[in-house]
Amino acid sequence: MEIHQAMTEQAMKFSFYPAHAFTNTAFLELSDLVVSLAPGTLKNNSRVWVTCTGTDATDDAVRLARQYWVEKGQSSKYQVISRWQAFHGNNIAVAGFSGLTGRRKIFQPMYIDSPHIPPAFCYRCPYEKTYPQCNLLCARALDTMIRQQGPENVAAFIAEPVVGAALGCVPAPDGYFQIIREICDRYQVLFIADEVMTGWGRTGKMWGVDHWQVTPDIIATAKGMTAGYTPLSAIIARDDIWAVLQENHSPFKAGHTLNANAVSCAGAIAVIQYMQKNHLVENAAARGDQALARLQKIMDARPTIGRISGKGMMFGFEFVQDKSTKEHFPPNKKLSSMLEWAAFDRGLITYPCTGSIDGVLGDMVLLAPPLVITEQEMDTLLEILDQSIDDVEKQLGLH
Ligand SMILES: Cc1ncc(COP(=O)(O)O)c(C=O)c1O
Repeated sequence: MEIHQAMTEQAMKFSFYPAHAFTNTAFLELSDLVVSLAPGTLKNNSRVWVTCTGTDATDDAVRLARQYWVEKGQSSKYQVISRWQAFHGNNIAVAGFSGLTGRRKIFQPMYIDSPHIPPAFCYRCPYEKTYPQCNLLCARALDTMIRQQGPENVAAFIAEPVVGAALGCVPAPDGYFQIIREICDRYQVLFIADEVMTGWGRTGKMWGVDHWQVTPDIIATAKGMTAGYTPLSAIIARDDIWAVLQENHSPFKAGHTLNANAVSCAGAIAVIQYMQKNHLVENAAARGDQALARLQKIMDARPTIGRISGKGMMFGFEFVQDKSTKEHFPPNKKLSSMLEWAAFDRGLITYPCTGSIDGVLGDMVLLAPPLVITEQEMDTLLEILDQSIDDVEKQLGLH
């Protein structure tokens, strides 16, 4: 109610203003609020750029990285290194540095050169090692890639703290992002955290990176910032990055007609204040623990669930044909979609994903319930999920 009210009040004042020529109070208030909530050393030491979608945010994050290096006189730095099995959005440039094979393939000839390193995915370790004896080779691969490309050519590394759609909610192992941070610092590469899905309490902490106390140079964020009430996204970047552009009198070369829309900014402020007043981040953490505990029981009891993973209100699981070998089901069976429809019929929306093995094979399911969910509602959700998995197993003739 208070969110609708804040947006309505703003709309009654004015809805549109050209952001290239004016600013507005809602945008300024929102920026101050975001900066006060930013993680680590970005807190009260960063500036905010507000745009429309998550894709705009990741696109603008790499634009800022590129423009920063150009303004600093290091114009050879342009490459964005990312990871396979990662999703950063849906325009041609962003899909290029995303690592979601199924969505990349047909546009492949249109991408610019974006090197990818393997994902941090212990269940199907790309190096066939076991954590922590693996020495986090998946993080150290960034060091190798930067040296192969030449640090003088690399502008930024982008990663999701918890991989969402491309892996079905897989958090990085402890220590991963600390190594990433060290490597980025060593080679003067900006670390961009894609917090489009993980930001604003979804993982049980305000930011995904808060789980490892690592501060990125730039954050791209969206979704939970307005809880779906209205389109809005943002980048948060270190003050001194923006200062370089400012000193050179060089405006940020990005922007859309509806950037920093006043009604959306008012909605975002109201959403963030609602989250704070109702302790939704804490609720996400508690309900996430509840979900993972029950999912563990479901996995133990069910022959087809090989892996559960997640943090807070972002969790998922993977179907396998054989738990000991992790053998996947034939892709034409479309396990994740079977589960989607079984759950949908019972009133539960799930997100089917594929590609955990090689970007194409492997059936995962992602769940991202609302942060306001109660303990009882979470029980109901998990009960429906269990019944839906049972349904899929019956369809497979496993009972
Ligand atoms: C991690 C991540 N980055 C970027 C995006 C793109 O956001 P949008 O769909 O708002 O463009 C998404 C969307 O799901 C996402 O999950």
